[in-house]
Amino acid sequence: MARLNGKIAVITGASQGMGTAHARAFVAEGAKVVLTDLNATAGEALAEELGAAAIFVEHDVADAAGWARVVAAAEARFGPINVLVNNAGIIGPVAKTEELSQADFLKVCAVNQLGVFLGMQAVLPAMVAQGGGSIVNISSISGIVAIVGTPNLAYAGSKFAVRGMTKQVAVEYGSQGIRANSVHPGYVKTPMMVAATDEDGGGASAAIPIGRFAESDEISPLVVFLASDEASFITGMEHVIDGGMTAC
Ligand SMILES: NC(=O)c1ccc[n+]([C@@H]2O[C@H](COP(=O)([O-])OP(=O)(O)OC[C@H]3O[C@@H](n4cnc5c(N)ncnc54)[C@H](O)[C@@H]3O)[C@@H](O)[C@H]2O)c1
Repeated sequence: MARLNGKIAVITGASQGMGTAHARAFVAEGAKVVLTDLNATAGEALAEELGAAAIFVEHDVADAAGWARVVAAAEARFGPINVLVNNAGIIGPVAKTEELSQADFLKVCAVNQLGVFLGMQAVLPAMVAQGGGSIVNISSISGIVAIVGTPNLAYAGSKFAVRGMTKQVAVEYGSQGIRANSVHPGYVKTPMMVAATDEDGGGASAAIPIGRFAESDEISPLVVFLASDEASFITGMEHVIDGGMTAC
């Protein structure tokens, strides 16, 4: 049986990388999905590929008014949202802390941290009204440990913030049937990571016990599980999926 039957999910940053993989996995498991991204061309193409179970809304996660449009579009097409996957994120410049500009710091916070807050705030009323829902916030191993050799204070701070905000919402809304969990991938072969490492796993893979980067569709099953009712007693937790990288 499809594990996400009856779920109406918003997935941000769905036009490429892990967001695309999550969208395909969600639809394969029976969910209706609202895909959002800045990149409308790729997002529309993905929605078309997925058929009647998907719509695309062009959207900047850091824009509160945009979130109101996403919620309205979801309700008009499918009904009230009961799953949110806050996946959109940017890596920002890798720069020594003393050289990081305030503008770059704030830009990363706007997408990775403010965007996650605005997303949760936008969907919570519908989840409260339904008496339940699941929020899956995509953080990173950079929300678990500092990464040696890649100074990226803004990214690390934002991803630790995602982990903390997730816990706060979990304890605040647990009694209303709403679960919130964070997912912490290690290195995943997406356009973001290929651009950041200038390779597809070569040198950086030495730090990963499994010996390679993940494919995006190796992360999606965890996101599907946390969104599903199979995870009914799991909330407020960080779920690391990193090929063993933070085990050593
Ligand atoms: N790739 C990795 O190794 C890795 C590891 C850990 C965590 N993550 C996290 O996973 C998530 C997905 O990463 P990815 O590697 O698939 O990235 P990606 O760059 O390949 O895709 C991210 C998508 O988000 C969209 N996006 C960016 N800013 C946006 C905004 N303001 N509003 C709406 N959409 C926006 C982009 O257009 C893009 O389609 C991110 O939160 C990232 O920080 C990635």
